[in-house]
Amino acid sequence: MFITRSLTKNSNLLLVLFIKSHRRNAHSIAASRTHSHLIKSGAATDIYSWNSILTSYGKTRNLNDAQKLFDEIPLPDPVSWNAMISSHVAHRSYNAVWDLFRCMIRRKIEFDTYTLGSVLKSIACVGELSFAWQLQCLLIKTGFDGDVYCGTALVDVYSKCWKMKDADMIFRQLPVRNVVSWNTMITGFVGIDDFDRALATFRWMEKEGLISPDEGTFSSMLSLVDLVTQLHAKIVKHGWEVDTVVCNAMITAYSSHHGSSIKDIVKMFDEMTESIRNLVTWNSMLAAFASAGEIDSAISLFINMTKLSGIEPDMYTFTSAISSCFDNSTSNLNSRFSQGKALHGLVIQKGFDSTVPVSNSLITMYVKKAGAAGNTNSNGGLSMDDAVRCFDSMETKDSVTWNSMLTGLSQSGFSEKAMKFFRRMHRSSQIKTDHFAFSAALRSCSDLAVLDLGTQVHSSLVKSGFGSNEFVTSSLIYMYSKSGVLLLSRRAFDESTKSTSVTWNSIIFAYAQHGKGRLSLEIFSTMSRVGIKPDHITFVGILSACSHGGLIKEGTEILKTIDKVHGISLRMEHYACGVDLFGRAGRIDLAMDLIKSMPFKPDSMVWMTLLGACRIHGEVELANVVARRLLSSVPDEHSTYVVLSGIYSGLKMWEGKALVQKIMRDRGVCKVPGWSWIEIDNQVHSFNAGDRSHRRSDSIYSILDELMDEIRRRKRKINIS
Ligand SMILES: *[C@@H]1O[C@H](CO)[C@@H](O)[C@H](O)[C@H]1NC(C)=O
Ligand SMILES: *[C@@H]1O[C@H](CO)[C@@H](O)[C@H](O)[C@H]1NC(C)=O
Repeated sequence: MFITRSLTKNSNLLLVLFIKSHRRNAHSIAASRTHSHLIKSGAATDIYSWNSILTSYGKTRNLNDAQKLFDEIPLPDPVSWNAMISSHVAHRSYNAVWDLFRCMIRRKIEFDTYTLGSVLKSIACVGELSFAWQLQCLLIKTGFDGDVYCGTALVDVYSKCWKMKDADMIFRQLPVRNVVSWNTMITGFVGIDDFDRALATFRWMEKEGLISPDEGTFSSMLSLVDLVTQLHAKIVKHGWEVDTVVCNAMITAYSSHHGSSIKDIVKMFDEMTESIRNLVTWNSMLAAFASAGEIDSAISLFINMTKLSGIEPDMYTFTSAISSCFDNSTSNLNSRFSQGKALHGLVIQKGFDSTVPVSNSLITMYVKKAGAAGNTNSNGGLSMDDAVRCFDSMETKDSVTWNSMLTGLSQSGFSEKAMKFFRRMHRSSQIKTDHFAFSAALRSCSDLAVLDLGTQVHSSLVKSGFGSNEFVTSSLIYMYSKSGVLLLSRRAFDESTKSTSVTWNSIIFAYAQHGKGRLSLEIFSTMSRVGIKPDHITFVGILSACSHGGLIKEGTEILKTIDKVHGISLRMEHYACGVDLFGRAGRIDLAMDLIKSMPFKPDSMVWMTLLGACRIHGEVELANVVARRLLSSVPDEHSTYVVLSGIYSGLKMWEGKALVQKIMRDRGVCKVPGWSWIEIDNQVHSFNAGDRSHRRSDSIYSILDELMDEIRRRKRKINIS
């Protein structure tokens, strides 16, 4: 379970990282190939080809090659010069930038805003004021001073040199300003601690209303936020009318600033009088509480807003308030939830139940509640019913609505309901089944291990065109593997694009789970051969493949290379796999050495793995130590008791076993029975150990008895012969 979870969580980021690194390599290789081709053929190629290779070199930051190429170009044009200059800027070789630019002027090569922008950038980086004057003269002479790009770059130069007066003059004379111009000015004022002017500029920007502030604006304002007390003092001292817009922006700025504390925001909010607060103020404050996890305050604020302020909540108010009710912390779950239900009532009363985002957040709330309460608990089922009811009552639904419902059902373990819902979704004309839906459905098929259904989903997947999505492929591989049909897992893998580690990891895991460690290793070496970079998940897969397949030597080698060769720092999972690897091989000493070498505190997963190894090898003394540790750190974990009691009964230490069971009773820990499923003629039958609830349980047990007899007979035969 944990494997798939970490897969989906990390794969997105991994994908981005992968594509980035891949592109960079591809660029450099392709560029040098073309380059050598151009030189070999001796072709007097057009300047366009030269420039595109030059740009490629610049992008790959291969400055020497770029310079060499530039010198080879028979007649470099302005584009070549610009490419060369911006490569040097990127490499911070500013002297080269200025030499090139001087050379351009001497040779009367035409420059443009792009050239000037690069040169100004280099001047700003160094803070060469004398160059700035010269360049300003040049800009005026050539008429580029009215250009927003060059003008802003010049403002940047002066503000970086702390010459805010000059910066301000140029800024005011700009015929057109863009958001970068404004941000540069604000950042400049913040840089010299002149928050009066920074704030004034911000207010001017707001008042002029031509350009909306963006993240850059707020991030400049954030440095102001650090000085908030001083700022407040200033506001009060100046007797400024505290502007609603500014205050609202400050609240938003605060809450998106990770370092700032919610206390500062509350202070800001409290200092605003009722006449200044508007709907946006309340919503910003509510969102700030919600994102800080201050749920009780969020609810209290919501109540104050509706009861005291006289401001009508809108869609955003409701979505923030509702989403704070499904904060993932499990404490206070029930009171949270009753607040959520109350909010639902209010939503209906105010007529927001037909607003899609509000209803979507209600659905998510019920789904999360059901997930937290668990599948076995009847409360979970009730919340899921609420979610379904909410879903059904919505007149308009968007893809978020459908997918929230489906993934909710799937992730909370309501697999059968999820599959029914998927079927409904697939048949509905309102919604196109997308890759999220397919992944969720396949995951539920895996949980149920129902091959027939899985195959059906697969065939609609092929028709849908989402089959090439790697996350879907990954779920497909997992589904077939869980259903025991590795051949089909492999086929899904072979047919996929295999362009990132996601699909590779899935097939490695599939083989690992089936004890086919050699095949996992084979895939791993192919992966390296075709140049797909392994990630930390790959190594979890490989290590568990080695331990399940008894490949101790290989596993030990790989454990050593993760950090040293592949540059991936070892995580808790890797250590747990390593402990498992040594433990299964009976090398408890090596497992202990590994634990001792860990740079961080081992968690219960690592100890539990060690305990499992102790059980297999009858290491009762170490087991006692480890179990004591586990019983104090995770006293509710039933498997510790089960393993420990298993060790004692294996060694016929009945007193120990009785003691464990007594502690378990005293602490109120229950053994959670493990359930199994089997699919026969499209019907799923579930059972657990010693179960007699099936209506044909008598005949099942009599066949089981026959099978056991048969096994015993054969065993005896083997012993005799
Ligand atoms: C809601 O109002 C009460 C009474 O005015 C106040 O004490 C409380 O702090 C307010 N809650 C929030 C979160 O602002
Ligand atoms: C709750 O969510 C936060 C971020 O949203 C996350 O860092 C944290 O690990 C989550 N906690 C649990 C128990 O899932």
